[in-house]
Amino acid sequence: MPYAHITGWGMSVPEPVMTNDDLARIVDTNDQWIRERTGIRERRIARENDFPSTLGTSAALRALSVANLKPSDLDLIICATSTPEHLFPATACLIQDNLGATRAGAFDLLAACTGFIYGLNMAAQSIRSGAIKNALVVGTETLSRFVDWTDRNTCILFGDGAGAFVVQASEQPGGILSAVMHSDGSGGNLLTLPAGGSRHPATEATIREGRHYIYMDGREVFRFATKVMASSTEEALRAAGLAKDDVSVIIPHQANFRIIDAAARGLKLPIDRFVINVDRYGNTSTASIPIAAVEAVERGRVKAGDKVVFVGFGAGLTWGALVAEWSGPLPSPRKVNVGRYRLLGRVLSVLRRIERFIEGLIWGRRA
Ligand code: ACO
Repeated sequence: MPYAHITGWGMSVPEPVMTNDDLARIVDTNDQWIRERTGIRERRIARENDFPSTLGTSAALRALSVANLKPSDLDLIICATSTPEHLFPATACLIQDNLGATRAGAFDLLAACTGFIYGLNMAAQSIRSGAIKNALVVGTETLSRFVDWTDRNTCILFGDGAGAFVVQASEQPGGILSAVMHSDGSGGNLLTLPAGGSRHPATEATIREGRHYIYMDGREVFRFATKVMASSTEEALRAAGLAKDDVSVIIPHQANFRIIDAAARGLKLPIDRFVINVDRYGNTSTASIPIAAVEAVERGRVKAGDKVVFVGFGAGLTWGALVAEWSGPLPSPRKVNVGRYRLLGRVLSVLRRIERFIEGLIWGRRA
């Protein structure tokens, strides 16, 4: 049975930075309150032409470049997102088209902020079953488009960005060692985007009542999060046959410094064992774990052979954890120039559209 290794990683965040002081100019809040209650100092906000697919594509190209893999080598693209570009088509298909990943199946996965862990586990399972060899998992968000910028309870928390991993089959032992996934739909009302789906389609009333914005019961979500972060980490470690002290770093969902701190205390681990960058990006939902992972690798905090735990929670309610032995790129004799695939992806997309147009003309003439 092949092993599923994390062989590439990449991130992309929009350029504009919104500081706590910037926020204090639009809602009744202040830098001190936000830093003390959340640990957040600033977040990135999507420009008009940034979308989950564009941020996700940039992160994916970087991940492919690290893995030294062509987009056409991909068998599967899983896009975890809480802010899909459309109900359909899937954001994963937009990324597939941007990359020119012509052989890949692509789908979106909705498990809110736990989505990246779920997606990584699904990719690993597909590889371990022998069904596929190369997968791309993307977490990408433009939460700023679903935030009520007059609600100080929520607008201070979120930011935009994307992260991506390449996962590949190898006979070499290691890679993704275990994962646990949980859900409790009885808490679905605690964190929700109430309207815009098929239960409450958009109407003048839903817009007037602000039901297209994120609603959150912050205290309840906080209580739930502090309970499950430690327990799911322990569960995933048990499943991998590892002890806490075997772990080099824990890369948690970046929602609130106090939640991460509570998890560290729950696990009786020093806080410096945790990767924390919530101060610079806020909560980027599905993107927060891969962004934190990319920064940890680039700063030398994660090296090949290290045991790493990813742990998260989110709307649903959902929560989960995944244990991996960090791999790095698989040996390969060729050097892939991933830079040119952005342009190639665009050309392939135009060609497919022209082909479809010509086919339409031929079929139209026959009818
Ligand atoms: N600025 C200033 N004051 C504020 C702000 C603000 N932005 N927000 C709330 N306050 C005030 C409140 O009005 C309240 O005042 P009061 O005591 O006079 O009534 C006081 O501060 C305390 O408010 P709380 O809500 O009790 O503050 P708390 O310490 O719980 O922190 C927070 C709120 C940061 C939202 C916290 O509950 C939290 O982090 N919850 C979890 C959020 C989270 O992780 N969400 C996950 C989303 S993931 C996904 O799936 C999308």
